[in-house]
Amino acid sequence: MTYKSQRIAYLFFATSMLLLSLQIVYGFIMAFAHMGYDGLHPVIPFNAARATHTNLLVVWLLSGFMGAAYFIIPEEAERELWSPKLAIAQWAALVIVGVTAIVGFHLNWWEGRKFLEIPRPLDYLVVVDVLAFIFNIGATAWRGKRLHTTGMVLFVGLLAAALLYLPGMITFDNQVRDSYFRWWVVHLWVEGVWELILGSLLSYLLIKLTGVDREIIEKWLYVIVGLTFLSGILGTGHHYYFIGTPKYWLAIGGIFSALEPLSFLGMALYAIAMARKGGRRHPNRIALTWTLGCAIMSFLGAGFLGFAHTLPMVNRYTHGTLVTAMHGHLAFWGAYAMIVLAVISYAMPKLTGRKLYQGWAAEWAFWVSNVGMLGMTGAFAVAGITQVYLERKVGMDFLLVQKALHVHFFGLVLAATLFTTGITLFIVTFVRYGLPRAEVVRSDADEDAGELDVEGAVPTAAQ
Ligand code: HEM
Ligand code: HEM
Ligand SMILES: [Fe+2]
Repeated sequence: MTYKSQRIAYLFFATSMLLLSLQIVYGFIMAFAHMGYDGLHPVIPFNAARATHTNLLVVWLLSGFMGAAYFIIPEEAERELWSPKLAIAQWAALVIVGVTAIVGFHLNWWEGRKFLEIPRPLDYLVVVDVLAFIFNIGATAWRGKRLHTTGMVLFVGLLAAALLYLPGMITFDNQVRDSYFRWWVVHLWVEGVWELILGSLLSYLLIKLTGVDREIIEKWLYVIVGLTFLSGILGTGHHYYFIGTPKYWLAIGGIFSALEPLSFLGMALYAIAMARKGGRRHPNRIALTWTLGCAIMSFLGAGFLGFAHTLPMVNRYTHGTLVTAMHGHLAFWGAYAMIVLAVISYAMPKLTGRKLYQGWAAEWAFWVSNVGMLGMTGAFAVAGITQVYLERKVGMDFLLVQKALHVHFFGLVLAATLFTTGITLFIVTFVRYGLPRAEVVRSDADEDAGELDVEGAVPTAAQ
């Protein structure tokens, strides 16, 4: 690493790993409940498990993004972090809000709005916390020597994500209006501003790992940003088909959301093209594998499987079924979980000076977790299609259908076990890296230049 304050990132990465583990536990609780083994119901009913599972997901991803920003922004702005103390306070506040929310869900203290279950008083704390974070990285960028495009897109993505949290906090006494604005948060995050965060993190990792010129990589970033906004904003309409909004959303949502896979395709193509151009000689090969894997799996999960149910004539049947869960898992995994794991894989050797990326565990973590997640996606797909057929075509009763689906969740548990094995390997490697060390501070660019041995792809000091 180049700046001492980059070490703050470790706190956020470690928190991510802890919350991911907990998220998986709640995934298993629900998977067993779907198989008919719902013994924990009196203590952890399905709704509490579901809210915990999805909110832990959002919090560990946000913690990962924050860690990534604390690691990357000082480098992009070429100075130490504005206030490491504020960063630590902001980390502590994030953990406190997260723990309170999770405990609250188990005591039936929640809002019942999918993905935005956190009760209102805690929402205000989230806002204050995120503002402190934005202020800190904003001040770092502002006072820095310069801010490269990658750092700028990352900052704008994070700022916009913070602002878009607000529409979800307006109170309505009308269910349609409430749903309408809930999607401004949920959809415009994952299919809008979070994509900017994803694009900029991909761009940063590709610059560092492939050695291709920053200018070339950042030109692609502009194209991705353009495509994302062109399709993603009006693409929100794919959530307005059947919630009581006017009919014109069927056409608007259908057309624009059908274009959304383009930006994910663009990201996959650009990652592969840059890796080919630069060669793959950076010694931290596993970080590049996660980076490329992320670009490809996000296209599969978000682009391909998103498209699979985005047209109104299909969504009419699949809406709110396990087909949605199929897409939700691979999209979140491919796009946002994998990019966080890619940044962690790149950053840990820099923070600690250890090179565990050479070991077998780091490599197997990637393959086993990805094969496991593909298996889970397959299990959700089979269960989802069966559900749509029995419930919506044949007209069977909802609960009878749920019983008929028990067997498919056995398949889910098997695949999830494989996935969990991969994640365990990743976390064990993370723990073995140990704590960051101040004495490993040196010029990152020199280090990466020394590590790269690619003709025509020598990074300059500006990188
Ligand atoms: C990384 C990006 C994406 C993520 C993380 C993601 C995740 C999700 C999640 C979690 C849901 C369920 C939300 C809920 O019901 O509360 C959902 C719904 C949906 N997604 Fe995505 N998605 C992404 C991109 C896309 C794209 C690009 C498309 C279209 C091409 C798409 C199409 C849909 C549709 C149509 C639904 C509604 C399903 C229903 O009616 O039940 N998604 N997505
Ligand atoms: C061992 C691992 C996991 C298991 C067994 C598991 C299982 C489940 C189950 C059973 C549900 C509820 C589906 C329903 O509503 O009936 C669910 C929801 C969800 N899980 Fe997981 N999960 C696991 C890991 C993950 C991971 C790693 C992610 C993200 C990267 C994730 C993202 C989600 C999302 C977004 C939803 C909500 C889907 C929707 O809105 O339809 N899960 N999970
Ligand atoms: Fe959406």
